[in-house]
Amino acid sequence: MADKNHYDLAVIGAGPGGYVCAIRAAQLGLSVALVEKEATLGGTCLNIGCIPSKTLLDSSERFYEARTAAAEHGIKIKGVTLDLRTMMKRKDKVVRKLTGGLKSLMKHHGVEVVGGRATIPEPGRITVRSTDVAAGTDEGERTLSAQHIVLATGSVPTELPAVPFDGKRVVSSTEALAFTEVPARLAVIGAGAIGLELGSVWQRLGSEVTVVEILPRLLPGFDSEAAKLLQKELQRQGMRFHLETRVTGLSETGAGVELTMIDNGDSEHKLEADTVLVAVGRQPYVEGLGLEQLGIARAEDGKRLKVDAQYRTSIDGVYAIGDLIHGPMLAHKAEEEGVAVAELAADGYGHVNYEAVPNVVYTNPEVAAVGRNEAQLKETGVAYRVGRFAFSANGRALASAADRGMVKVLSDERTDRVLGAQIIGSSASELISELVTVMEFGGSAEDIARICHAHPTLSEAVKEAALSVAGRAIHSI
Ligand code: NAI
Repeated sequence: MADKNHYDLAVIGAGPGGYVCAIRAAQLGLSVALVEKEATLGGTCLNIGCIPSKTLLDSSERFYEARTAAAEHGIKIKGVTLDLRTMMKRKDKVVRKLTGGLKSLMKHHGVEVVGGRATIPEPGRITVRSTDVAAGTDEGERTLSAQHIVLATGSVPTELPAVPFDGKRVVSSTEALAFTEVPARLAVIGAGAIGLELGSVWQRLGSEVTVVEILPRLLPGFDSEAAKLLQKELQRQGMRFHLETRVTGLSETGAGVELTMIDNGDSEHKLEADTVLVAVGRQPYVEGLGLEQLGIARAEDGKRLKVDAQYRTSIDGVYAIGDLIHGPMLAHKAEEEGVAVAELAADGYGHVNYEAVPNVVYTNPEVAAVGRNEAQLKETGVAYRVGRFAFSANGRALASAADRGMVKVLSDERTDRVLGAQIIGSSASELISELVTVMEFGGSAEDIARICHAHPTLSEAVKEAALSVAGRAIHSI
């Protein structure tokens, strides 16, 4: 009789990397277990990350529009008020719908969900200690064995020693997605994706938001032109920035907290706030897995796990994907790795093209990028051409009051192959897909320029930027 505790593949962590890996492995005919310590599936992304933040970004944008921008369209709305409870309830409902949907998906694909906290006592074995919250079951301890073990346990917010989390005054993104009232003054440390997205949510809902960033710019890693444009737009919306500034301490005041900061000229400043959101990055989460005892090798930074091109860690039969390993901490990157590792386990073939992983920040305007930006191309000495097109010259953008921002296409000077693209503007998150597709197909700027784009659409700005690479944009002077 088959051993009911043995699986071909066991995944630890049911975030986008883990659950996608489990489904793909099941599709390929493997017997699969998915171990999760939380009561719901979906990991950070669905429960306390991408999905709740995008839900609140949408709701807060509607509120902001109703209060400010609608008048420009001749729509006068009097007495717009905020019902934060209802807004949060809607967010929770969206999260519930998606996490609940995942349960059915697992069932449909024949993936066995095992609730509890996993430890790997030795290669090939997983001990799962179920808690009362995990999947509503309490099976005590169960030991599984698996030919392939995939670690997909994700990441947690990085703490700043000078400003430790207390869950009330000093919070991470998790709490900032569930405030019960709008903080009058919100200090945000870190001008990365989380700081700017959640800063935008609370700014739109009425907070006075001040962002403190250690670097001289927003969104390090993104195109600097797009980052500058975004800063200008966010400032126009009322957000304040202290760039090249380090937070060195925190003290409680009667009404809230006071941050001590040092700027690039070594001058000390104070910033009072009711709440502080610390968003200075995330780090791999491997607590309780027993990796130290296993002697698993870490990457150079001492935090991420070291894997080879086939996601194999230094321990036989143990793989790692997503936020645990190299590369950007993005749900869709983890998903691709989940698919690749399942295919590698089943067939021996699996691959992720890291050159074509899009990266999006959901501010208003949105910022989206794929491939390399100008600074990165210069650094590697690649000769390239640039094509730009501003949304202010795009009919649909004007019609929709989305005329801020631009599309930038970078192509190889010799071959015209698209090497990267950056979009800042409305729907940048959707528009970037065309560039990702072209890059996956090894296409050129000329290819995009010769594709018929519907009129009037924002996507015409992508075509025009591609035309502009060869100096022949139609609607610009
Ligand atoms: P991040 O790495 O994107 O940004 C952190 C920012 O904090 C950087 O600008 C950094 O220079 C700054 N910083 C670091 N130490 C600092 C200090 N001591 N004082 C002031 N500033 C400091 O990290 P973030 O925003 O926390 O996001 C974590 C991860 O989650 C990222 O990998 C991000 O890509 C991902 N994420 C992606 C989203 C998306 O795709 N839309 C949304 C939210 C998060």
